[in-house]
Amino acid sequence: MGPLAALTPLLETRGIGKRFGGLEAVTGVDLRLARGEVRALIGPNGAGKTTLVGLISGRLAPTTGRVLFAGRDVTRLGAADRVRLGIVYTFQITSIYRRLTVADNVAVAVQRRRLRRLADWLAPDARGLAREVEAALGVVGLAGVAAEPAGALPYGHQRLLEIAMALALQPALLILDEPTQGLAAAEIDALCRLVRDVAAGATVLLIEHNMAVVLELAGRITVMDRGRIIAEGPPREIEANPEVQRAYLGQPSATSS
Ligand SMILES: Nc1ncnc2c1ncn2[C@@H]1O[C@H](COP(=O)(O)OP(=O)(O)OP(=O)(O)O)[C@@H](O)[C@H]1O
Ligand SMILES: [Mg+2]
Repeated sequence: MGPLAALTPLLETRGIGKRFGGLEAVTGVDLRLARGEVRALIGPNGAGKTTLVGLISGRLAPTTGRVLFAGRDVTRLGAADRVRLGIVYTFQITSIYRRLTVADNVAVAVQRRRLRRLADWLAPDARGLAREVEAALGVVGLAGVAAEPAGALPYGHQRLLEIAMALALQPALLILDEPTQGLAAAEIDALCRLVRDVAAGATVLLIEHNMAVVLELAGRITVMDRGRIIAEGPPREIEANPEVQRAYLGQPSATSS
């Protein structure tokens, strides 16, 4: 990476906005993520967090503004093209192929990534594929259940499987939308370790309601309320911010968990 690339934010939104009918779900958001950081995105229910990452990932088209990735304007690219560039996300609602085995779920993701290259169309490498699947499952601790149908896994493991599928896409930016939702305490610990490992090689944008997880993982926190960014900074500063505390009033579960 040259000196200019190092200065360019990995991700930048400029005045990004999304209107659903009469509702402005996201309004004029300027977000900049540096390479290698773990950024938490927090805010009360309905603040616009999932909508914002929909705009970043290309699942939603913006009403206003632009998205730049590694300095390149990707506003008009669809979600599949952005995945190819390394913008990978996991959904707030679990989305796996329930009838496929755990291993085949990851294989689908690996294949999807590989088929970007002509060489892999011409000479598919089955052994390399199996190795990669095994490695991805090992990272999330699911190697032992590789042959099970994914739908038979407990919910927490399905979420980890989803992350394994995302990792198999080799993200430059991994966006996780409430990954700890529905996980037991031990699973949350495992997820935190996993995110830290991922952060060694990628930038992470983490939407999360569990403040303990946010404080443990995030270098910086961005706070949204009613479609706008209302605060941004290191965890200690955000915790002490009166506007942030006000935004969470009436939502004690969001700050006390
Ligand atoms: N496809 C849609 N059509 C219409 N309104 C939508 C749509 N998606 C989201 N909204 C609305 O936009 C606002 C922001 O929703 P969003 O899901 O982005 O919030 P969030 O911060 O992710 O909330 P949560 O913490 O509950 O996941 C909400 O008022 C929501 O009802
Ligand atoms: Mg959401």
